[in-house]
Amino acid sequence: MATDPDPQLVDDLMEVAHTVALEGGAMVREGRPSTVEVAATKSSAQDVVTAMDLAVEQHLRTRLARLRPDDAFLGEEGGATGGTSGVTWVVDPIDGTVNYLYGLPSYSVSVAAVLGEPDPARWTVVAACVHAPADGRTFRAGAGRGATLDGQQLRVRAAPSMLDSLVGTGFGYRAERRRAQGRIVAELLPRVRDIRRIGSAALDLCTLAAGGLDLYYERGLSPWDLAAGQLVATEAGALVSGLNGAAPGAEMTVAGHPSLQRELCRFLEANDAATDL
Ligand code: IPD
Ligand code: CA
Repeated sequence: MATDPDPQLVDDLMEVAHTVALEGGAMVREGRPSTVEVAATKSSAQDVVTAMDLAVEQHLRTRLARLRPDDAFLGEEGGATGGTSGVTWVVDPIDGTVNYLYGLPSYSVSVAAVLGEPDPARWTVVAACVHAPADGRTFRAGAGRGATLDGQQLRVRAAPSMLDSLVGTGFGYRAERRRAQGRIVAELLPRVRDIRRIGSAALDLCTLAAGGLDLYYERGLSPWDLAAGQLVATEAGALVSGLNGAAPGAEMTVAGHPSLQRELCRFLEANDAATDL
């Protein structure tokens, strides 16, 4: 795994991430029709894509190809394009599409630059921008540079215990997985302050970074759900991992202040949370 990325490269990638995330956000904000229609469905009838998801991803792809022609690209809607620089842009044009569909404000444009394979088990995320167009919040992070919300430095909260923790989570789109996820929530709910389901994994991780959640866990995240939020959370002092010492990723992602994150991992491991049974 690559370490200590070149500081000038980090600065350049942070600037590009910020520029294109804001452009994508402006498209989403200004182009929202009075009624948003579903353009297609994916893993299930509930897993929807709108014309705006497709248009924003196309814009990000085109702009990044112009600004950084040697970099690779991985987007939720259009897949991967190769590059030669070792940098891959991992992009979710709208993270929280169901909120966007219903006119709820918790959705975001998520843009990250990673070194190495665009795979959470192997990548080093070096620059990130998560922009929430509905309220204008912009989260930024760079490897070794810290994390900010609208220019203010972020630090994760250290809740005194699990019982005092507000815990974010999310659910997949397939019924079988949801049944298993519901079982875990039922076990966890009596042991924590409360549960939140914000509806955008990128905003879950950024909200955690800003102290708006104490802990977050989710099974089933894709690289584009995770990349930018992972760096924002980590740079704000969170530990972000999978279970049993694994890297975060599709099997499980657990984030929080190091003093509590391990306790949530142990709970999830003991309850077989990384299965759909
Ligand atoms: C979804 C959101 C949601 C999470 C789902 C993701 P999408 O992304 O991040 O919070 O629970 O697992 O698929 O479909 O809105 O881009
Ligand atoms: Ca999406």
